Amino acid sequence: MKILIFPDAEAAARETARRIVAQLVAKPDAVLGLATGGTMEPVYAALAAAVARGDCDGRRFTSFNLDEYVGLAGDHPQSYRHYMNRHLFDAIGLPAAQARLPRGDAPDPAEEARRYEAEIAAEGGIDLQLLGIGANGHIGFNEPTSSLASRTRIKTLTRGTVEANRRFFGPDEQVPSLAITIGIGTILESREALLLATGGAKAEAVAAMVEGPLSAACPASALQMHPRATVICDEEAAARLQLRDYYETVHPGGTEPAITAPKGLERTRT
Ligand code: F6R
Repeated sequence: MKILIFPDAEAAARETARRIVAQLVAKPDAVLGLATGGTMEPVYAALAAAVARGDCDGRRFTSFNLDEYVGLAGDHPQSYRHYMNRHLFDAIGLPAAQARLPRGDAPDPAEEARRYEAEIAAEGGIDLQLLGIGANGHIGFNEPTSSLASRTRIKTLTRGTVEANRRFFGPDEQVPSLAITIGIGTILESREALLLATGGAKAEAVAAMVEGPLSAACPASALQMHPRATVICDEEAAARLQLRDYYETVHPGGTEPAITAPKGLERTRT
C-alpha cells in the first residue's frame, strides 16, 4: 500500500482528482469505480473543472458507483444517483447509459445486486476504484464483519453509519438502513484502488486499515491484499499512523520520487 500524506484536505482532494484525470488521459474509455460522501465533493468539483478546461475527456468513461440506498429512487434528493448527477455527471455531460449505480427502488433488491455485479464483469471490471472510508473502517457500505470475499449484495448499515449519514437528510426524514453495495471481493479485483481519507474523525480507521491486522473488523484492511492500492490522506487523517515518518520518507510531500541508485554506488561502465 502506498501512503501519501498531504498538508490539508484540499491538497489531498486535488491529488486524487489529478490521478483520475491521469487515468482518463491514459485511457479515455476507462471503467471507473466511484464513491459518494462529503470527502468526495471537492474531488468531483476538481474533476469537473479539469474536464471543463479540456484536460481530459469526461464523456467516454463508464462508471460504477459503490452503493445506493435500498428504497430510494434515483430522483430522491438523498439518493446517491442524485448526488452523482449533482456533483459530477451533469457538469461533465457523461451519457446516462455510462453512469451506472444500483437501482435503489428495484422491486427485487437482491436480484438488482446480482445484476449489478454481472454488469461490472461484462464491462471488463474496474480500472480505477475510488474509495472513501467510514469512521468504522467500512469501504462502500461493507460494514465491519463483512466477508472480505463478498460480492455486490444488500448490507444493513450500522447505527453509527446511519447517524453519520443523517447530516445529509432533513430533520423529519428517515435515514435508510439498508444499502446495495459492491463487495470487498469486487473491490479487490479492481486494477487500481485509490482511497481518500480526510479529517481527524478518520484517523483511527486509517491506522487500522494500514497498520492493523487484516480483519473483517476493519473492512478497509482488505486493501492490504490489493496489489495496487494508494491511500491519500491529509495530516489529520494520518495522525494515528505509527510509521508516518517512513511513509513521508518514501513519498515526500505525497510525491512518488523516481528510483535512483544511492550516490557513489551508481553502476560504473566497464
Ligand atoms: C459512499 C461510500 C462510503 C463513504 C464513507 C465516507 O459511496 O462508499 O464508504 O465513502 O462512508 O463518507 P464521508 O466521505 O461522507 O465521510
